[in-house]
This record gives sequence, structure tokens and C-alpha cells, in this order.
Amino acid sequence: MKTALLDVLAAPGDRSALTICDERRENGEVLEGSLIAQDGRRFEIRDGVPRMAPELQSADEQSDTRTTFGSKWQTISDEERDRLSVFQYRWFEQRFGFGDEDGLAAELQGARWVIDAGTGPGIQAARLARVTDAQVLGMDLSESVVRARRSFAAERANLDYIQGDILDPPLRRGSFDLVVADQVLHHTPDCRRAFHSMAELVRPGGQLATYVYRIKPLLREIADEEVRKLTTRLSVDECMEFSEQVTELGRELSGLDAKVTLEKGIPLLGLEPGEHDVQRLIYWTFFKCFWNEELGEGVSNLVNFDWYHPPYASRHTEEEVLGWCRDAGLEVINLDVIESGISLRARRLG
Ligand SMILES: C[S@@+](CC[C@H](N)C(=O)[O-])C[C@H]1O[C@@H](n2cnc3c(N)ncnc32)[C@H](O)[C@@H]1O
Repeated sequence: MKTALLDVLAAPGDRSALTICDERRENGEVLEGSLIAQDGRRFEIRDGVPRMAPELQSADEQSDTRTTFGSKWQTISDEERDRLSVFQYRWFEQRFGFGDEDGLAAELQGARWVIDAGTGPGIQAARLARVTDAQVLGMDLSESVVRARRSFAAERANLDYIQGDILDPPLRRGSFDLVVADQVLHHTPDCRRAFHSMAELVRPGGQLATYVYRIKPLLREIADEEVRKLTTRLSVDECMEFSEQVTELGRELSGLDAKVTLEKGIPLLGLEPGEHDVQRLIYWTFFKCFWNEELGEGVSNLVNFDWYHPPYASRHTEEEVLGWCRDAGLEVINLDVIESGISLRARRLG
């Protein structure tokens, strides 16, 4: 942890200021120590990472989320993670209306603080730190931030990772120029509350960029609801095995390269008239079975696992998300709605 982080860190709950003590430093970074809140609460800094997330017991509502994603990000190899970054970076620029990496860098000119909340393997935070001079913070509920810090933060003076909870962020309100919460808010027990919690961190004139799952057509929703009732109860290993089976189905359907043309379609079930790729048709209308040649088998398995194992994966409508945005006093800059989800970039009025 770099000491600059104390400018935006605060105690969870009352958001009081923190003081640092008993610290051990190396190359200007705090590797071990404690952060003390005004009411005496103590938060450890371990492996260079402030541990500001609640101590979760197995009965707590977010403990399974931490297990799911902690395991997922431990499983992914460096090579798979790098392949995923290429895909995620491109998709991020496009969905949020930055155009390309230069567009993203231009938007961040003059920014002082940026956060990637729910950073997972930390790749987006690392890229944000590369394209801006702002201080960048990656935060996650899981232990993934330890590996992320080791991989990316050691050689970057403007990058830090913390373990923290989006629903009770250990951060000062109104202190970030850009808050990114990409593909994460729907994994909390209350997506709307998570949205507002992130919106509160945005300073006047700053921006929030977020993506949440979209409600799917009827039969896919029924399948998701019922299948997830089973798969969220599986152990990590069991669900990984299930995900491999699902990936195989996606791969084989994709390999058919088959098309069907529907004159009438079945609009009630979300099937429009026209030509459909068979794998896509099954995927979007009936059953999620992800496969992507470019990402390969390992990452495709993890994408399926990411859908079937997390305890929370809420789906939302465009109207709902725009309503949250209005209620939070944010003005829409860019809205991108696709089958899988809704990407929104919005500005807090100055
Ligand atoms: C699907 S991953 C998305 C990772 C990354 N944002 C991306 O776009 O690739 C969701 C991440 O959100 C994290 N997460 C879930 N609930 C959270 C919470 N309440 N606070 C912080 N992180 C959370 C999970 O641990 C996981 O790493």
C-alpha cells in the first residue's frame, strides 16, 4: 500500500479517518501494519493489501460470493488472464463509449483518483493505471487482490489494491473522478443499493461506469432460475465440472456453424423472425452454454462457472438502471444495451 491511499481510505461504516501504525515498509510501500479508525477498530494491512472487508462467517450473505470468486481467480493461469485482458479491454472501451484506449486516456486527463470496484484479477485497474497519471485503486471482496497486487502494483507507483465491500466501501464519499463497477453489482445481494453505494463515491463532475446483467427471454430466465438453484449449491469443484460439461455443449453447437431461418419467429419467447445461428439461438433463448474460440476452453469454463456458481446474479431492465441513475443525480453519457447486459456511463452534475 502506498501512503497516498490514506487520502481516500476511510473506516467502513462511519467513514471516519484512519491512522496508520506498526507499519513495515519496503521500497516506500507499506507491506504490513494496521489502520486504526477513530472508534478504535483495527484493520490489518497484509501482503501490502489493506483488509477492509467485513469478517464473513459461513452464514453471512456474501461469504459464498467470496468463496466463488476467490476460487475462480485462483484457478485462472497468468496466460489465460492475459488472454482475458485483451478481450475485456476492447469490450470495455466499446461498451462504455470510449472508442479505444486513446479515447479512455483522453477522458482521464487531469483525473486524480480512479477506482475499479469488484476488480477480480485486477486487470482493468492495472490498465487504468497504465493509461492515466491518476492514482488507481482496485477493490474486491475476495482474496484475488493479493495476486493482483503482486502481479501489477509492485512496479506502478499509481496503483493499489484493497480488500473491501462495495456495499460498505471503506472510502470517502465524492472523492473519485471515475468509478468503474464492471460486471459486479449484480453479484451483490442488492444491486440497487450497490449502484447507489458506488454513485456516492463519484465527485461532482466525475463519472460512474457500470455494467449489470439484463433480464433474458422467458425460457432462458426459467432455465437460469431453476438450474442456478442446483448449481449454486454445488461445491466449487462440482460446479467447475458442470461448467466444463456446459462448455462442451457450447463448443459442439458452435462447431456446427448451423443456421436456421424463421419466417415467423416466436416473439413471445424473444425469438425474432430472421436467420439465427443455432448456438446463439440456444444460448440466448434457452440455456447459457458459453464458448469462445479466441478465449479458449479454460476461460470459457470460467465464464460458465461465473454464471452458474455465484449465489447472486440478478438481472435488470434498462428502465430500472436509468431510474437508479436519475435517483443518484447522475446524467447519462453513454448507454449500451445488448442481450447479456446494460452498460452505463454517467456523470455527476457539478
Ligand atoms: C464477474 S467478476 C468481474 C471482475 C471484473 N470487474 C471484470 O469486469 O472482469 C465479479 C467480481 O466482483 C467481486 N465482488 C462481488 N461482490 C462484491 C462486493 N460486495 N464487494 C466487492 N467486490 C465484490 C467478486 O469477488 C468478483 O471478483
